[in-house]
Amino acid sequence: MKRSLAIVGCGTIGTTLGKLFAGIGYPIVGVASRRLESARSAAELIGISNYSDVAVQITAKADIVFITTPDVVIQSVCNEIAKQNGFKKDSFVFHCSGAFPSEILASARQCGAHIGSLHPLQSFASVEQALQMVAGCTCTFEGDTKALPIARKMVKDIGANFIQIRVKDKPLYHAAAVVASNYLVTLVNLATELNQLIGISTEASLKAFLPLIKGTLNNVKCLGTHRALTGPIVRGDIDTITSHIEAIKIDAPHLWPLYRALGNSTISLAETRGGLEEKIVQEMRSLFEL
Ligand SMILES: NC(=O)c1ccc[n+]([C@@H]2O[C@H](COP(=O)([O-])OP(=O)(O)OC[C@H]3O[C@@H](n4cnc5c(N)ncnc54)[C@H](OP(=O)(O)O)[C@@H]3O)[C@@H](O)[C@H]2O)c1
Repeated sequence: MKRSLAIVGCGTIGTTLGKLFAGIGYPIVGVASRRLESARSAAELIGISNYSDVAVQITAKADIVFITTPDVVIQSVCNEIAKQNGFKKDSFVFHCSGAFPSEILASARQCGAHIGSLHPLQSFASVEQALQMVAGCTCTFEGDTKALPIARKMVKDIGANFIQIRVKDKPLYHAAAVVASNYLVTLVNLATELNQLIGISTEASLKAFLPLIKGTLNNVKCLGTHRALTGPIVRGDIDTITSHIEAIKIDAPHLWPLYRALGNSTISLAETRGGLEEKIVQEMRSLFEL
């Protein structure tokens, strides 16, 4: 018999989790949200009749509670429920934030509940999109030891991959996710900015770069980061690197600090891959000095 679930915060993640878990046989005892209308439409999509704009009305009977509100209110929502003794003894309370630790749910322990954070490492714009994308993504857990097996089972049940991290490592973990997702967008934007300088529109740039980016990601998938690296740095092509740097310094000096930092990181990556002469590495390093 699967444990019963309640969802507090009927946005993208809350509604998606409700729908997914209902679909694989978890009894959903109810959903709650700040606005009754949000709770009602989530309940409709999930196929249940119990919804409320008062969280404690639906959490008190659940074995597992997900608080899927915006990050900034998770703690106060949890405190409010705990204050009214709204978590069952030995129930499990989770939030899905990548940035905040499970400890923001500490007040639930007063009711005898166990806490954890379970963060889906993916960017979901809508419930429809999330329903397609959860399977195959990775969910990262940190929290109470007793919550670990429950979290692991739920993640497996929805077809996602499971990682456990220590609470003290959460800031670095989230910073890594920011690099992989947000900074990738910034990098693509940097490339389009450079092309704009020579009269190529952002639209045309994206059309040109997206197949290149997809091909590169596929190489990373198949070969790993070291062997996927191509281009002038890994070839030690000093003349090409020099011409790039001269052009950047003249035409886009504001982008030089970022270009320089990335160049230095790429030299390090190329160096650990091996095959470059030390003399060439030093020459490249000096080109990327201030
Ligand atoms: N979306 C993603 O890509 C993604 C990925 C990984 C993790 N997460 C995490 O998942 C959690 C939820 O994110 P989301 O994208 O689903 O956010 P969201 O779409 O903005 O949904 C949050 C919902 O919480 C409700 N809410 C706001 N204040 C509330 C309160 N005081 N009490 C009860 N409900 C309240 C709001 O509904 P009403 O005001 O309409 O009632 C809103 O629809 C966050 O911790 C986020 O960091 C999101």
